[in-house]
Amino acid sequence: MNSFGYNLDMDLKTNYEKWYEGDGYYWGTEPAELCHELIKLVPPSKDVKVLDIGCGEGKDAVFMAKQGYTVSAFDITENGIRKTKKMAEENGVEVNAFIADINDFEIDDTFDIIYSTGTIQYLADDRIDWFFDKVKKMTRDNGINWFNVFVDKPFIPLPPDWDVYEKMWPTARLFTYYPDWYFERMDEYVFECHSSGVPHHHCMDVLVARKKV
Ligand SMILES: C[S@@+](CC[C@H](N)C(=O)[O-])C[C@H]1O[C@@H](n2cnc3c(N)ncnc32)[C@H](O)[C@@H]1O
Repeated sequence: MNSFGYNLDMDLKTNYEKWYEGDGYYWGTEPAELCHELIKLVPPSKDVKVLDIGCGEGKDAVFMAKQGYTVSAFDITENGIRKTKKMAEENGVEVNAFIADINDFEIDDTFDIIYSTGTIQYLADDRIDWFFDKVKKMTRDNGINWFNVFVDKPFIPLPPDWDVYEKMWPTARLFTYYPDWYFERMDEYVFECHSSGVPHHHCMDVLVARKKV
């Protein structure tokens, strides 16, 4: 139990497996703002391939498929992938959704957009270099990587639903993996979040980088 009285199951790779049980949507069904940003950066078409890493219950992946992209998405939770497939079916779109771990996924494909929100803090310390090397190689020329990560600030307490294998990153570390790419955006901000039902704050770094040739 954490200091908020919130039970964490240390046997699970992520407590989202439990939080995604049932038919409701923990994160709601509205797409994140990042999807609208991506649409402006790379206009949708079937030829444009998108990868959502840590897709949760699928709200962003399904929205991107509805815009006309060809979308693949993975998450470590069975419940998240079950719901992603269900949401795609209900919306009449295809999403290639599968279970995989951000720390050791194998995908033999390339993408125009690779994005991940709220998930790269699950990378183990010794997989971070591997991950960025891999996603950068998997990105097509002129493609986009959109990533965010929670960063540690002494004035912000850990969130109530902070997970077992999550790690806060130091400020600005994310930006250091892309010295050779064009930065469409680099940003850091604090925002209020109501996940878990307990209002709390996060500080987040966001990087939108383009693979210029
Ligand atoms: C904060 S949620 C964000 C979900 C989704 N991107 C969204 O915005 O709705 C973090 C996600 O990371 C997933 N996750 C946790 N550990 C993971 C891992 N090792 N590999 C892949 N996904 C993981 C969780 O299951 C959860 O869906």
